[in-house]
Amino acid sequence: MQFSFNTKTVSFTFIACLEQLGSMNQEVNRIKKTKKPWPTKDAMQQVYEMKLWGGNNSNFYSGDGSHNSEIVNPYVAAITRFLVSFKTPITVCDLGCGDFNVGKNLVKHTKKYLAVDIVKDLIAYNKKEFKAERLEFLCLDIAEDELPAADCALVRQVLQHLSNAEVLKVMHKLKDFKYVILTEHLPLGEFVPNKDIISGQGIRFKKQSGINLLMPPFNLTVKEETVLVSFILKDSKGVIITTLYQLF
Ligand SMILES: C[S@@+](CC[C@H](N)C(=O)[O-])C[C@H]1O[C@@H](n2cnc3c(N)ncnc32)[C@H](O)[C@@H]1O
Repeated sequence: MQFSFNTKTVSFTFIACLEQLGSMNQEVNRIKKTKKPWPTKDAMQQVYEMKLWGGNNSNFYSGDGSHNSEIVNPYVAAITRFLVSFKTPITVCDLGCGDFNVGKNLVKHTKKYLAVDIVKDLIAYNKKEFKAERLEFLCLDIAEDELPAADCALVRQVLQHLSNAEVLKVMHKLKDFKYVILTEHLPLGEFVPNKDIISGQGIRFKKQSGINLLMPPFNLTVKEETVLVSFILKDSKGVIITTLYQLF
């Protein structure tokens, strides 16, 4: 069998294809430049609807970090020690409370426990599921809305999911609390902190980075910093660190 090519036609078609690809590239770049990230509320709602953090059998599942007893139990023990160290119980605001598998253990050690999350259906579910006299659930966006007053803010594996712009907004509000207990998933060892991400399911760890509120662009100043508990994850997946900041 013999093939014959008209080289003129082939090269003309090839150039036309390249031109087409070039203009497609320009269009993709234009869309990339004008594309706005999803609102955080929608992104978080989708995470729960599509079970992107796992938990096939539950209506709402906030991920392994909220359910793995090896991670949760030492955290609950450390926060309990902190809470019962006060002569009179303190008020706590849990910012980004999630499915409340963690927070539910702490309510009894507080004077008042305000649990906040951005996902409306999750808050409605939690209201039905967890009832206690001193417990209140609120649907708020912690970056955009005014936060309730309390002695201590718990922010557990929340900022790791937010863009730097949103973390900055939250950080300014954290200054109103006397104590902030922050839990973040970080790379082990040295890393470049606070690389920016788009708010959503993912975290800075995929960029070998993690949140450090004391470093730029946040530059939070604190009176005292104490690591309460840390858990090293298997397979070089980093470390989950809980730090107590005393702010004034
Ligand atoms: C990984 S989960 C952690 C839940 C809980 N703190 C825990 O440790 O079990 C992160 C939670 O933060 C919530 N969240 C994210 N951005 C938020 C925002 N801007 N305002 C309030 N909640 C937010 C999400 O909806 C999600 O429930």
